[in-house]
Amino acid sequence: MSKTEEIRKGLVGVVADSTAISKVNPDTNSLLYRGYPVQDLADKKSFEEVALLLWAGELPTQDQLDDFIKLERANRALDPAVKAAIDLLPKDAHPMDVARTAVSVIGARHDDAENSDPSVELRKAKELFAAFPAVVAYDQRRRRGMDVIEPRDDLDYSQNFLWMTFGEEPAEEVVDAFRVSMVLYAEHSFNASTFTARVITSTESDLHSAVTGAIGALKGNLHGGANEAVMYTFNEIGIDENESRESAAERAKAWMEAALAEKRKIMGFGHRVYKSGDSRVPSMKAALDRMIDYYGRHEILGLYDGLENAMTEAKNILPNLDYPAGPTYHLMGFDTEMFTPIFIASRITGWTAHIIEQRADNALIRPLSAYHGPDQREI
Ligand code: ACO
Repeated sequence: MSKTEEIRKGLVGVVADSTAISKVNPDTNSLLYRGYPVQDLADKKSFEEVALLLWAGELPTQDQLDDFIKLERANRALDPAVKAAIDLLPKDAHPMDVARTAVSVIGARHDDAENSDPSVELRKAKELFAAFPAVVAYDQRRRRGMDVIEPRDDLDYSQNFLWMTFGEEPAEEVVDAFRVSMVLYAEHSFNASTFTARVITSTESDLHSAVTGAIGALKGNLHGGANEAVMYTFNEIGIDENESRESAAERAKAWMEAALAEKRKIMGFGHRVYKSGDSRVPSMKAALDRMIDYYGRHEILGLYDGLENAMTEAKNILPNLDYPAGPTYHLMGFDTEMFTPIFIASRITGWTAHIIEQRADNALIRPLSAYHGPDQREI
């Protein structure tokens, strides 16, 4: 067999290493975090508990959770130097670029940036988890010409995230839908951004460099950028708050048929691993339904159903997590460009768990390539 025949373009079907962090089973559409079904975690656990589960391998005891909550609340405020770095960027810079820059600055300013002792790595992961929401919240606000809102340590992670973004105490229903999205986005084995983080870690680079690189990988439309892109589809179809659900569904169906006839790729549909449904969609769709009821925006459900039904009928390609997550964040009031940075806030847990796991049993990740350029020649 020649080298060319051995190529697995896109590494499709390649098992690159083993992990104890999560298990994706496309045959049963299931996703386990450290053995627990993600749907159960989304139903029953706080995001803080899920973060500790991903890092430590077990759900925390009450004392462990209390200690983490204390650390998280103590590290929430936006570092003035990070704010200054963000302020150097244009207000209309893409929030993923702002996020990538902010994490890089946070890393460069960390006293223990180069220390890869596992306990130090875990502390850095927890501090970054705590510090990142203020980056998203501030960027959202500065885009709207508003100043920083200080965190409140009487609020949990999700409540405080929404508080720092919007400056209002969020309703319980909204906090819960946000928490569900955080739990569902947290981890998904060797997806492109996690694999990027592992590649960077495998060179013995530092944790913040690995997260910064992962953010770059997450930005693209084929990965995390799809939650933002889903909303552009909704906007292209047109959102009219006064439209009936049925009429919105019909327009969405017609849009999808025309888009597929033009061979367009529809964001929020399809998945490299799941071919008969993304395990995370039912929990996220239920959270979206609750938001649609809460905000009384049934035309959004019409658009959602119209697109999904037309796609199923035409190609039987099913929604991925980004499809219900995008309109959920829209209803909460986030700017569309902020959706993928919210994904980062969640995925910092999975990325850093993988960074720690990679470091514990490291081998430099360095595949081969088959050459198809000119044969050796004279200058
Ligand atoms: N819209 C239209 N057609 C699609 C879509 C889609 N969203 N997804 C797959 N297809 C079609 C392809 O055109 C291809 O058709 P063909 O065989 O006639 O050429 C076939 O289905 C197989 O598609 P691939 O792109 O080869 O499948 P792959 O496994 O490589 O891609 C991917 C998976 C990249 C996610 C793809 O489905 C896609 O681009 N989806 C849209 C982007 C998206 O939503 N990404 C989010 C991923 S989930 C996450 O990050 C949380």
